[in-house]
Amino acid sequence: MLRDGAEALLRKFLLLVHRTRSLQRMFAPRHSRPGPGEWQPGMSENGAGRFLEVYLDLTNQCNLRCVMCQTPHAPGMPTQQLGWDVYESLAQALFPSTANAVLSCLHEPLMVRGFFDFLKRVEDFGVPQITITTNALFMRPKMCHKIMESGLTDIHVSVDGASAEVYESIRLGAKMSTLLSNLAAFCEIRGEQALPRLQIQAVVMPENYHEIPLFVKNFARFRPRRILFIHKDLKPPEASQRAFVERQLNKALQACIAEGIIFEEYPGLFVSARQVLSAFGATDAEEQPEAGCTDPFRFIRIQPDGDVFFCSGARTPAGNLFRENITEIWNGSRAYRMRHAWQLGRPPPECATCSLPLKGTTRLMQLRRHVDETLAPIVGRVQPLVGQDQPRAH
Ligand SMILES: C[S@@+](CC[C@H](N)C(=O)[O-])C[C@H]1O[C@@H](n2cnc3c(N)ncnc32)[C@H](O)[C@@H]1O
Ligand code: SF4
Repeated sequence: MLRDGAEALLRKFLLLVHRTRSLQRMFAPRHSRPGPGEWQPGMSENGAGRFLEVYLDLTNQCNLRCVMCQTPHAPGMPTQQLGWDVYESLAQALFPSTANAVLSCLHEPLMVRGFFDFLKRVEDFGVPQITITTNALFMRPKMCHKIMESGLTDIHVSVDGASAEVYESIRLGAKMSTLLSNLAAFCEIRGEQALPRLQIQAVVMPENYHEIPLFVKNFARFRPRRILFIHKDLKPPEASQRAFVERQLNKALQACIAEGIIFEEYPGLFVSARQVLSAFGATDAEEQPEAGCTDPFRFIRIQPDGDVFFCSGARTPAGNLFRENITEIWNGSRAYRMRHAWQLGRPPPECATCSLPLKGTTRLMQLRRHVDETLAPIVGRVQPLVGQDQPRAH
């Protein structure tokens, strides 16, 4: 009797173990066969090509306190900087598969201690596009020389004000005279060399609506390849201001055409990429974007505290580098489920609240490359983007 009871209990226990294992198998990442977007370090060498857009903030520090900036830079905030050992393991895992390494996203890259050593590791892996977004206030001539030797291919300089008055009232702590002399030094030191390409960018907000065309007039002399207008928080202006902002953006577009500078408005609320192409007289104005968001398959953002995100809209990290390595996070169950949902054409619930309506960063980059390649033969000064996996011409 007692034996029968013990046997029944054992059978129940074994059944439970079996069911739990089946459930685990169902939800776990399938390492035995390739899952959607599954990847192992060094994949570029066995056929996957360079498919990653890697956004990496090495520090949490900034020298300015811009009025619209969402990034917390409270006084006295302890400095976080990603350690060299974590960075080196990231470099070895990611950079062989990286198409574009962006060494700043939310903070100021030129405040990173040993920044040019970090940059050198990206170049060592032959990453074809290496980008920073900076306020450019540290770009004194000595630093411009270092930049020229660093292998950087793209520098995005944030301005936000075309006049000194507006610039200094938005970018608190900045001086327009410093920005202009740094940009002039950079242009002189770069001379006729094609790289790094310069992008001037401005957040479009009520404080600078009246200056929108003036950005082109005042910054064209630094020979930027593109002027990018980003709507504050990626949201449209107040209804009463929309017609005015649309007119201002169209004036800026016409000024860009006259100067041979690519114009972009993000996220294309008033002037779409297609409209830009046809305004420049490009005949091939057709772009076939991939269906759905491609960020979960191609995008990685890493914070200096080690948090990792696989989508530019995500608030919750997919993992942390101080607990798991990047390959484990990339191939983990959370990322797997997200990619699988997109592959089935059923976006996961977290994508419903995305502020970049199904566009993501990788789709934006795809569109930007298409615009650049189409406009390269039309716009004299525009340098074509270096193709993925091609050597960089300095
Ligand atoms: C956060 S900053 C970090 C890099 C660097 N410190 C800089 O200012 O270029 C990156 C970009 O985000 C832009 N930005 C800041 N606040 C924004 C907002 N509320 N909406 C849209 N873009 C914003 C900045 O102007 C800058 O071009
Ligand atoms: S310089 Fe960049 S990171 Fe710093 S406060 Fe301004 S927008 Fe934010």
